[in-house]
Amino acid sequence: MIRVGIAGSGGISYAHANAYLSLKERVRVTAVSDVELERAEALAKYIGGAKVYSNYEDMIENEDIDAVDICLPHHLHKEAILLSIKKEKHIICEKPLTISLSDAEEIESKVKGSKVVFLPAHTNIFIPSTQEAKRIINTGAIGKVLTLRTTDCFRGNVTGWRTKKELMGGGELIDTGYHPTYLILYLANSEPVEVFAYMERFVQKMEGEDTALVLIKFKDNSIGLIHSSWAYDTPYGHQYFSVSGEYGELFGGGNKIGLKMYGWPETKKELTWKDGFLGEIEHFINVIEKKEKPIQTIEDSLKVMKVITAAYKSVEEEKPIRL
Ligand SMILES: NC(=O)c1ccc[n+]([C@@H]2O[C@H](COP(=O)([O-])OP(=O)(O)OC[C@H]3O[C@@H](n4cnc5c(N)ncnc54)[C@H](O)[C@@H]3O)[C@@H](O)[C@H]2O)c1
Repeated sequence: MIRVGIAGSGGISYAHANAYLSLKERVRVTAVSDVELERAEALAKYIGGAKVYSNYEDMIENEDIDAVDICLPHHLHKEAILLSIKKEKHIICEKPLTISLSDAEEIESKVKGSKVVFLPAHTNIFIPSTQEAKRIINTGAIGKVLTLRTTDCFRGNVTGWRTKKELMGGGELIDTGYHPTYLILYLANSEPVEVFAYMERFVQKMEGEDTALVLIKFKDNSIGLIHSSWAYDTPYGHQYFSVSGEYGELFGGGNKIGLKMYGWPETKKELTWKDGFLGEIEHFINVIEKKEKPIQTIEDSLKVMKVITAAYKSVEEEKPIRL
């Protein structure tokens, strides 16, 4: 039985908690923490009991746990990861890795120099349409990938630490925009070499951008477009992708996937639904227990951070940025 401590008992910790509850034969949340103690108490109650700490530092230092699940505001990810490594705890960490590229590079070398398992919580990698798209791309059915588009847009109401650049590491792109970034890199099957971006703050009251459009040029000459926003809702759901290849186009999101071979009618399929949080946490346990090969690694996190940092630099300097 793997024992987990959750660092931060806010909104997303409940999505993680649900996954742990579904896997209760293999993993147990034995400790939770939050500086707002009532949040930690509520989470402990929700999962049927756990030791409650008033901050993540005390929990990681003192509790006999095997792994830490980091659900903290962005500016605390780095210190929580470093402390977990020091105490030899495995780590699953919510996005983003850190709030700066230099911190991300430091973390990468610390993780690589340690024996702990590190899994970035790249939730959308684990949803059925992503896995099916990757499988179809790898069969060669759509031929060489030409262009890719990933979208994650919803009208939010940004408050609290998310309004501050120094706590976020930027704006929407490094928060929700992190999902379509790791997704496009995962589907691309090539290395990003250049990034160009436009960003705006249209409606939200926050220091950073609420909308980002990011173009990526890949080494194999394919081109990606990330579209992410907290300013508006999109039709067809808030997260979806499309990949145009030489012979056909794949499109999907959630548990839906479609394929349009050029010159032929499109086909659509509904896949068996599996929650991305359940998928990532089950994978985390499999990597620890069964030494399963991690689907996403610290290198993938670093690559995402490089693209996002280049996108911010591109906006600042009003030009494309070579990676
Ligand atoms: N995968 C997803 O779809 C998804 C969705 C939302 C958020 N997230 C990520 O999850 C993380 C948390 O986001 P959230 O929306 O749950 O934020 P939140 O503000 O709801 O929760 C964060 C919690 O951390 C607590 N905290 C602050 N300092 C602490 C400390 N020293 N020790 C313990 N707890 C402390 C806060 O009091 C708060 O309750 C972020 O990294 C965010 O990007 C991911």
